[in-house]
Amino acid sequence: MTYKIAILGTGYVGLVCGVGLADFGNRVTCTDIDGEKIDLLARETIPFYEPGLEDYLKRNRKEGRFFLEKDPKKAIRDNDIIFIAVGTPSRDDGEADLSYLEEAVRTIARESKKPKIVVTKSTVSVGTNRWMKETLLHLNPAVSFLVVSNPEFLREGRAVQDFFHPDKVVIGTEEEEAREVMREIYRPLYLIDTPFVITNPETAELIKYACNAFLATKITFINEIANLCDRVGADVHQVAKAMGMDGRISPKFLHPGPGYGGSCFPKDTEALCSIAENLGYEFKTLKAVVSANKRKRELMVEKIKHHLEDLKGKTIAILGLVFKQNTDDIRKSPAIDIIQLLLKEGVYIRCFDPLAMENARKILPNLTYFQDEYETAQDGDALVIATEWNQFRNIDLSKIKKLLKSPILLDLRNLYDPATLKSLGFTYEGVGRK
Ligand SMILES: NC(=O)c1ccc[n+]([C@@H]2O[C@H](COP(=O)([O-])OP(=O)(O)OC[C@H]3O[C@@H](n4cnc5c(N)ncnc54)[C@H](O)[C@@H]3O)[C@@H](O)[C@H]2O)c1
Repeated sequence: MTYKIAILGTGYVGLVCGVGLADFGNRVTCTDIDGEKIDLLARETIPFYEPGLEDYLKRNRKEGRFFLEKDPKKAIRDNDIIFIAVGTPSRDDGEADLSYLEEAVRTIARESKKPKIVVTKSTVSVGTNRWMKETLLHLNPAVSFLVVSNPEFLREGRAVQDFFHPDKVVIGTEEEEAREVMREIYRPLYLIDTPFVITNPETAELIKYACNAFLATKITFINEIANLCDRVGADVHQVAKAMGMDGRISPKFLHPGPGYGGSCFPKDTEALCSIAENLGYEFKTLKAVVSANKRKRELMVEKIKHHLEDLKGKTIAILGLVFKQNTDDIRKSPAIDIIQLLLKEGVYIRCFDPLAMENARKILPNLTYFQDEYETAQDGDALVIATEWNQFRNIDLSKIKKLLKSPILLDLRNLYDPATLKSLGFTYEGVGRK
């Protein structure tokens, strides 16, 4: 059976899921309130960087399974299954801002004339799917609505691979019919033995937050260990490697750096703290993680300050603006936070990122942007590596040394070997490897 699916919200998640579900044989229409995004996609231009996505978009359009629609109302009317993949950013108080989702739910209620299955891909507070079901039935009692929580776990930069080879698919609904339809939609994953976690909506919603909060905790834990290593002269990489040898711990997400960032971990950790608080429970470990992660940015600035004494009037060259390599997403990037802290200290910033300069210019128009590592380093009082781009692992260090005013390299991603840098005459400092 070919299912007719509309996806409301054609951002990272909506577009990847849209072309992925089309590739599984479903008939998918992606729509968005941002008409420019749909126009760009109609010209087969992806509005953000995601390796491999363009090929899937082109192929599924050509083979008549993937469509674009500028009018979300029409997309709702014409399809039976409506996936919601709109943004759920942080509000000032840390709670998830559900206003885009609420608007989408109202539009679905208004436009539906026949039964719909409404699937929530967006990361939402616990209880949202139950609220959605009640609201849809209240606003449009003439139509039958089944609601499913189906959180997404893809990682930017590896989103296509993650969509086709997920560790798990979580389906949270109390309706057997919806469960069956979801199994069918994801049938190709079922056939390759992907585990399906079938549960109620609240559990599905909490699984998503628990996963992100746990990963953020793991990153923060190794960063805290790195802070101790800095103080005692231990090597955080050896600590992390030995920890990872313990099967109960696993080596993943034990890479020290300037703290977690991106569009998900910061907002999801804060949202889970708020969810707990609203239930009268103080989630002490997670609150500590959020605050330690913020402090990590400050500690990185302290590190830079330590080598330059007074920061005021100094020129710092920054390599990398994104929160991790292989994306152009600068949302909550540690590099951007560190730049903002340095600007407050009166520092002049020169910077370069292989993909994200256009995005960075929109929020930091007064920085000076360069085309490569060498132009950026010219006359800098120090060079800071803020993102682990592979191309920063192989820079010509002798050339960089000549270009810098003083040969100071602060490597916030530990891309280089301290002994090698020392032998080249650099004052070098990484994270947790004094
Ligand atoms: N980006 C990730 O890595 C990732 C991973 C897993 C889960 N998520 C979750 O998925 C959700 C979407 O994240 P994203 O990064 O794709 O966001 P995004 O900002 O890239 O895209 C959201 C899109 O929704 C559109 N939109 C808003 N209201 C709409 C409406 N009523 N109808 C149609 N379109 C509408 C916006 O214009 C935007 O294009 C969030 O809840 C996020 O937490 C994101």
